[in-house]
Amino acid sequence: MKDKILDGKALADKLNLSLKEDISKVVDRIGIKPKLVTIIIGDDPASKVYLNMKKRTGALVGIESDILELDENVSEEKIAEEINKLNSDSNVHGILLELPLPKSHASNALKYIEIISPKKDVDGLTPVNKGKLYDYDENLAPCTPTGIITLLEYYNIELKGKEVVIVNRSNLVGKPLIFMMLKRNATISVCHTSTINIENHMRRADILVVAVSHPNFVTKEKIKEGAIIIDVGINRVNGKLCGDINFNDVYEKSGKIAPSPGGIGPLTVHFLLHNTFTAYKNQIGDI
Ligand SMILES: NC(=O)c1ccc[n+]([C@@H]2O[C@H](COP(=O)([O-])OP(=O)(O)OC[C@H]3O[C@@H](n4cnc5c(N)ncnc54)[C@H](OP(=O)(O)O)[C@@H]3O)[C@@H](O)[C@H]2O)c1
Repeated sequence: MKDKILDGKALADKLNLSLKEDISKVVDRIGIKPKLVTIIIGDDPASKVYLNMKKRTGALVGIESDILELDENVSEEKIAEEINKLNSDSNVHGILLELPLPKSHASNALKYIEIISPKKDVDGLTPVNKGKLYDYDENLAPCTPTGIITLLEYYNIELKGKEVVIVNRSNLVGKPLIFMMLKRNATISVCHTSTINIENHMRRADILVVAVSHPNFVTKEKIKEGAIIIDVGINRVNGKLCGDINFNDVYEKSGKIAPSPGGIGPLTVHFLLHNTFTAYKNQIGDI
């Protein structure tokens, strides 16, 4: 069964080791550790699980990670003040606003993100970094799409000329992935809740990327024979994590599969740390 798996976990472990070496070489020389601060608003237990995972992996590669917890009732002014403090703290190299925000702040997400200094924007979501990606500059690009591209390239899956169908148009996943796929000469269709006959689009895909948060969204009738399937979705069903793809059903017909969990998730964490190191190097100067 293993030969069809695009093993994001194994790749992330390998990349984390090499990141650890790169970081230690620089830190040994200049004596300053890269530091990431994650701002979490409210008390979402799922977000806290991810935060702990990021913190653990950060410690493993040599990145200090702090968590700034703000109460759900915090004012907009206080959030802006805290972000500005981190912007001007030279010991902080990366700032991440944990998404999604609680309902009472959700409509302000872009407004808060715009306050983050583009130099410290390790999620690649500020207008400056989004604009750079439009010009194919991936220096600080969003972590999940970077993980997807890296996994495909690691397994030598050609993107040039391929029909790529992305079912998701969010700022974190689908939108940035469009530019990364275009840069690599793929032909892209983006599907969402208003797409008519979505199955017809999915069945055309040489490479299908799905992030809709619906377990069993993709079954074998909806894919082309030999398609590469990237499952980005994360769902919890009866206390167990699963993705958006019915893995057992599509396995035989697919060419290769990045499952969830174990595919894109660990690479997303890796690229958050990778971006923190990139932001650190950009700020420290030419090292
Ligand atoms: N593995 C990772 O590291 C990682 C990273 C990020 C996200 N995720 C997971 O990926 C999923 C999506 O995250 P997100 O932040 O992008 O969420 P989001 O902002 O809610 O986006 C969901 C996207 O799916 C589309 N969609 C939902 N139901 C659909 C349907 N029935 N048919 C067609 N399109 C549909 C939505 O369309 P509309 O735009 O029309 O609403 C939207 O574009 C979640 O499960 C999340 O946990 C995983």
